[in-house]
Amino acid sequence: MNILVTGGSGYIGSHTCISLLEAGHSVIVADNLSNSKIGVLDEVRNITNKEVVFYKIDVTNAEALDTLFSKHDIDGVIHFAGFKAVGESVSAPSKYYFNNIVSTLVLAEACQKYGVRKFVFSSSATVYGDNAVPFVETMNLLPTTNPYGETKAMSERILTDIAKANPGFSVALLRYFNPVGAHESGMIGEAPNGLPNNLMPYVTQVAKGKLNKLRVFGNDYPTVDGTGVRDYIHVVDLAEGHVAALDNLHEGTHVFNLGTGRGTSVLELVRAFEKANNIEIPYEVVDRRLGDIASFYADASKAERELAWKAKKDLVSMCRDAWRFEKHH
Ligand code: NAD
Ligand code: UD1
Repeated sequence: MNILVTGGSGYIGSHTCISLLEAGHSVIVADNLSNSKIGVLDEVRNITNKEVVFYKIDVTNAEALDTLFSKHDIDGVIHFAGFKAVGESVSAPSKYYFNNIVSTLVLAEACQKYGVRKFVFSSSATVYGDNAVPFVETMNLLPTTNPYGETKAMSERILTDIAKANPGFSVALLRYFNPVGAHESGMIGEAPNGLPNNLMPYVTQVAKGKLNKLRVFGNDYPTVDGTGVRDYIHVVDLAEGHVAALDNLHEGTHVFNLGTGRGTSVLELVRAFEKANNIEIPYEVVDRRLGDIASFYADASKAERELAWKAKKDLVSMCRDAWRFEKHH
């Protein structure tokens, strides 16, 4: 199939391009490079030895999408493009609502216009809010604590309504848990601008000596050792989940958790990193981070049942691959 990947030069998008190419699909990337570099796609070409067509366009721009869709016979779209920094979404909400909602609307419109029937959307476990764990797809969504999360919940509703009104249009809403790690070549990975917000990139930067020590946000949660528990998933497993979703997509809207189903605490992750890479990670415990919840992980059984997809890589691979990328980056 010819697959349009918006945000395809970003962290998850670039790994998904590799999985798509390896599965025999043709890939067209649309990215405005607001949070990625064009060189990433050269690495994708080097790793796969296959071509990727690239358009530097903003997917909120309907005319630019018209040009793209009229040049290529697109069979399916995977929509990664969006802003994702939770803290920034609180201080600049309109920037987030505009980019994340308008891109979804404009892209879905273009799909209607050009007869594209398959749409895969990057949602997030954040839409579950403070539900009880494990998070299951059938749960009612609770309000999220920030505009970023709201843009994901709203995009899910928009796409669900569009699919209802357009029989034949199929939508997969993929709720990611915590993507970490990098391609095992070490050539592509997660390279956040400035100080990392998320745990794994912070740990790898401490390992490299760019940062002095990790600050562990709270050790008084009701968890195994008091630190926050999350469901970390290797980005390559996550990428393969997209190919499975695309291949199995049928009429209507289908929601899938993409996680491992296992919770890992901050200190468990630190210890796994130290063991996998033989590097000590100095840390200190500080206050809880505002807006954090104690624990969340997926019920990952629906994707296994319906997509025949299951995360395969363990915490050691996640830590080893994340470090290999950081070391060479
Ligand atoms: P990323 O920032 O690395 O990739 C997003 C890409 O989209 C970037 O290359 C950026 O340049 C591009 N982009 C942004 N707005 C655009 C626009 N209007 N037009 C064209 N390109 C645009 O982020 P990522 O981690 O790869 O995340 C991909 C998607 O998955 C996002 O929608 C994000 O919200 C979602 N998600 C990410 C995580 C995570 O922890 N990384 C978790 C859950 C959901
Ligand atoms: C982040 C996002 C969330 C998104 C999720 C999945 C934020 C505020 N939230 O949350 O919207 O859905 O990723 O990608 O960015 N931690 C530390 N020290 C650090 C960094 C993190 O102790 O320097 C702890 C956190 O308190 C948490 C765990 O590590 O318990 C994971 O944090 P993080 O990687 O930021 O992910 P989420 O909190 O799940």
